[in-house]
Amino acid sequence: MSLKFNEKFASRFVSEDDINSIAAKAVEGMNTLTSGTGLGNDKLGWLTLPEDYDKAEFEEIKKTAEYIRNNADVLVVIGIGGSYLGARAVIEAIKSNDYNLFSENTPKIYFIGNSISPSSLNEIIELCEGKDIAVNVISKSGTTTEPAIAFRVFRELVHSRYPAEEAAKRIFCTTDKTKGTLKELSDKEGYKTFVVPDDVGGRFSVLTAVGLLPIAVAGIDIDALMSGAADAMKELCSTDVYENEALRYAAVRNVFYNKGRVMECFVSFEPRMAMFNEWLKQLFGESEGKDGKGLFPVSTVFSTDLHSLGQFIQESGSSHMFETVVKFNECQSDYVIKAQEGNLDGLNFLAGMNMSTVNEKARLGTLLAHTEGGVGNLVIELDKLDEYNLGYLIYFFEKACAVSGYMLGVNPFNQPGVESYKKNMFALLGKPGYESEKESLEKQLDL
Ligand code: PA5
Repeated sequence: MSLKFNEKFASRFVSEDDINSIAAKAVEGMNTLTSGTGLGNDKLGWLTLPEDYDKAEFEEIKKTAEYIRNNADVLVVIGIGGSYLGARAVIEAIKSNDYNLFSENTPKIYFIGNSISPSSLNEIIELCEGKDIAVNVISKSGTTTEPAIAFRVFRELVHSRYPAEEAAKRIFCTTDKTKGTLKELSDKEGYKTFVVPDDVGGRFSVLTAVGLLPIAVAGIDIDALMSGAADAMKELCSTDVYENEALRYAAVRNVFYNKGRVMECFVSFEPRMAMFNEWLKQLFGESEGKDGKGLFPVSTVFSTDLHSLGQFIQESGSSHMFETVVKFNECQSDYVIKAQEGNLDGLNFLAGMNMSTVNEKARLGTLLAHTEGGVGNLVIELDKLDEYNLGYLIYFFEKACAVSGYMLGVNPFNQPGVESYKKNMFALLGKPGYESEKESLEKQLDL
């Protein structure tokens, strides 16, 4: 197994007895998931995706990615939530969190439609000036406001720049197989479409065209990504918490939760994992946080954030949080620290040492310090940060998240709470049909 879950540094807070006493509940959660008898059981397609993902669509993704690479300087990816986080997380983790600065042989990839900020939109429009562009709009529903506004803009931009036939070849829609605005528009305009499978929800969709097309455009090996996920699918099946790392992780985080640790802090010592942390926050936050239950996911990148949030975690974290650290044993590239004449900064004792060694000692030092401060540290360990291991990690977290959701007694696959802000926003904007809500909301806001 290429992933190891280590709860040793949480043993002061979570004993073997604690794990044993929650094991049956974890197994029940796992059985509910795999038997398809739980809430949201129409959204379990992601469980077998690594093996039974539509092979023709997969090949088409690779072909299209090559076409985009050969014909565009820029790919604009439009989507929000599960329709953008996974792609961006994988691209930044594998390539760089400054991917666009290094993308000499692959198109720049700009993500938009993940906010309603006009400044962000204008920035991307400016960056596209004088460039050959392609657009991948991703929306299962096709009606989500943020991407819909951005798509209006970029669709117009593409059509204003290229003759109709060429424009149609530069717009790619990832959406529902048969219905919705985007599907209808694509059929009418001749845009190529990719499918968000009916049985895969947004935040579990990174290993479908939703994530795979932008990821492949970035020159990332999607076969290796799927192969890592496929091995995770085969290996994370046991109903023994001591054999199945995903199951034990689900069990341990639920022990923490039951002891009042309601915040889980996802930690990485690699800045390029920052967006992966964002993906994790959505995966766990939207899946578990409902019916008054759930762990609140937060994230940090160390050692950067040890100089901002480290103080709080060290001295005030013990009452409500624990950390889950994703650690890679090999780094992608290293740097040997040199001696400095005069040793002005007193760091010559590091001369000849790899920077990765210093980073690892920082991790170990932090682990001991935070544990001492009362914050339990769970460690998820992988060989290296590459496509295979990331695919494995994605599947590991998806499975652990679904099992955890069932352990909490919620439906891990819906997100009813997301509608509330939308309703208010539409009413305040004067959308037809929302007249009475508008009046009441404006009164509350003293408008
Ligand atoms: O996980 C989810 O289902 C959500 O985060 C959606 O991905 C997000 O709301 C975007 O929805 P859509 O793809 O319909 O535009």
